[in-house]
Amino acid sequence: MGESDKNMDQENKLSNNNGDQIVPPNNKIIERTIVKDWEREIQKGDDIEKYWAMEAEQLDWFKKWDEVLDDSEKPYYKWFVGGKTNLAYNAIDRWIKAEKRNKIAILYTNERGDEIKLTYYELYREINKMANALRNLGIKKGDTVCMYLPMCPELVISMLACTKIGAVHSAIYSGLSSVAIVERINDIKSKVVITADGTYRRGKIINLKSVIDEAMLQCPSVQTVVLVNHTGRYNDVADLRGNEIFYERLIEGEGDTCYSEIMDAEDPLFILYTSGSTGKPKGVLHTTAGYMVGISTTLRNVFDIHDNDLWWSTGDAGWITGHSYTIYAPLLLGSTTLIYEGAPDYPDPGIWWEIIEKYGVTKFYTAPTAIRHLMRFGKKYAKSYNLDSLKVLGSVGEPINYEAWKWMYEEIGKNRTPIMDTWWQTETGMHMIAPMPVADLKPGSATKPLPGVHIAIVDEEGVEVENREKGYLAITQPWPAMFRTLYNDEQRFEDVYWKFFPTGYYKTGDMARMDEDGYVWIEGRSDDVLKIAGHRIGSVEVESAFNSHPAVNETAVIGKEDPVKGQLIKAFLILNEGYNLSMPYKEGYTSTLREELKRHVRHSLGPVAVLGEMVAVDSLPKTKSGKIMRRILKAKEDGENIGDTSTLDDL
Ligand code: WT7
Repeated sequence: MGESDKNMDQENKLSNNNGDQIVPPNNKIIERTIVKDWEREIQKGDDIEKYWAMEAEQLDWFKKWDEVLDDSEKPYYKWFVGGKTNLAYNAIDRWIKAEKRNKIAILYTNERGDEIKLTYYELYREINKMANALRNLGIKKGDTVCMYLPMCPELVISMLACTKIGAVHSAIYSGLSSVAIVERINDIKSKVVITADGTYRRGKIINLKSVIDEAMLQCPSVQTVVLVNHTGRYNDVADLRGNEIFYERLIEGEGDTCYSEIMDAEDPLFILYTSGSTGKPKGVLHTTAGYMVGISTTLRNVFDIHDNDLWWSTGDAGWITGHSYTIYAPLLLGSTTLIYEGAPDYPDPGIWWEIIEKYGVTKFYTAPTAIRHLMRFGKKYAKSYNLDSLKVLGSVGEPINYEAWKWMYEEIGKNRTPIMDTWWQTETGMHMIAPMPVADLKPGSATKPLPGVHIAIVDEEGVEVENREKGYLAITQPWPAMFRTLYNDEQRFEDVYWKFFPTGYYKTGDMARMDEDGYVWIEGRSDDVLKIAGHRIGSVEVESAFNSHPAVNETAVIGKEDPVKGQLIKAFLILNEGYNLSMPYKEGYTSTLREELKRHVRHSLGPVAVLGEMVAVDSLPKTKSGKIMRRILKAKEDGENIGDTSTLDDL
């Protein structure tokens, strides 16, 4: 055992299991952390402009900003006005000039044990080749490029190549359906789509190309489909269609140097779609400089990133966690980021712990749903690997329940490593409420807002609640990584997020409570958005998917609590005349209508839409104006008193 390992020996055992205790920091960890005093660090952010300007100094600028924050056109805030920079330059080019040139930037592995390591210099050259190739395809600054790719090096390379030339990327999670792809590509009208033949998942290869093929029938803007031959399904150019080209072919002969486009601080960086309370997905737009400053600062503070860290965030790059913390922030800090393709339980439920042991992962960031899933297989898997390299653990996506927190703390962290419960959103771009390793933790609470982040728990008027009651979680001051608009939907951007409170605060859509120590406890969503295995999905989206089936007349969907996934979909269906959920769907069909609907919804929304229950009903509770009152169904389901319905909309 090396000296540094011995330093980690201190254990802080959990004292009881009431879920309401304070877990103090591990003194041995504090000896080495960048931030030593949590409260003092938070105070530095009292003056947001001063704080974020100080952090922005850590990055390279082609031209410094003239003004830190322009809030003259609320809610269209602008950060680092007049500044010129490039995020890919900061994440890659900056490091190859210095001692990190031959350090591993990305370490890719998968459930088959394949391994690809790219140093900063190698990644730099790959990005440049792809950037040149994209320019040759006619992609210019401001154009959009879509990706439908699994977690693989080409995804990282493609994203950074776009960033380098100022193209706006839009990654679509590889678990989404062709219907979802069509909707997204047609909204942003991309000329180029980068995809792969397939992805490895639980010993199988999931065909992604066939999903893209189906989508392409309805995407007239797309001129070129770039195909990464990731699983080697295609070995012949003859397999490709006229507008398709192999990734390898595309970059062949391209030079490995490429100039970085000089980007304005507020130039668009990427669009990432997420679910809201209507059927149409929201194109969350992030811009360059503020996002870069926000994510690098928060990763460094929350996970205490040092030069010798091996960072592993399991967040797929098709979601915001992947953008901000699997790819961009670790590279901006010159760290090594591990990219894993596969499920957490294949070949067996010890695969993650095996990878941590094999590579010596030091910081590990994952979702409560994955932890709860792995817990079910017992303690033996985690016990059979040496996890001593771990120094800090992290959780994201939904509240972490005490049992899962305890399991992660004891079985993975061996009572030594603190767990950073990070609250944030696709829209916030960066961690907003989260501790640091020096903090006193309370299992289940994301603790306090980070330095430079200011929140309040308020009522519908935007006034702070009294007596530590539950209220709406609002953000009271702008922050640099904030999204700037919803693409093609400014009205919705203003209405949903900024006009709800008369005070002009940002509405998060979450309910929360603050305890006597100022710790924040998230208490679920205030809108009709479900959280299934950490993925956001709108009730209306699921309802529309059901309603598009000929057997269904009308649907109401609510989230039903589930011990592993957090929530599952429960659907109340009014069926058309002559249909029955348990009977064969049609003459000559063996599958029941229930099975048929399950298949239908999965086809429309992808595997993220996990159906729990379906029940046929005669009627649905509605307001006078015909809006379905999901809250009533939900309250009934949870056995709660339905209470006074006079406050419900329109009633
Ligand atoms: C919503 C945002 C943030 C990246 C992944 C999800 C819930 C997220 C936590 C947490 C309690 C959390 C909230 C939030 N959420 N993290 N640590 N504790 N709830 O991003 O899909 O944009 O979802 O996820 O409800 O609003 P997203």
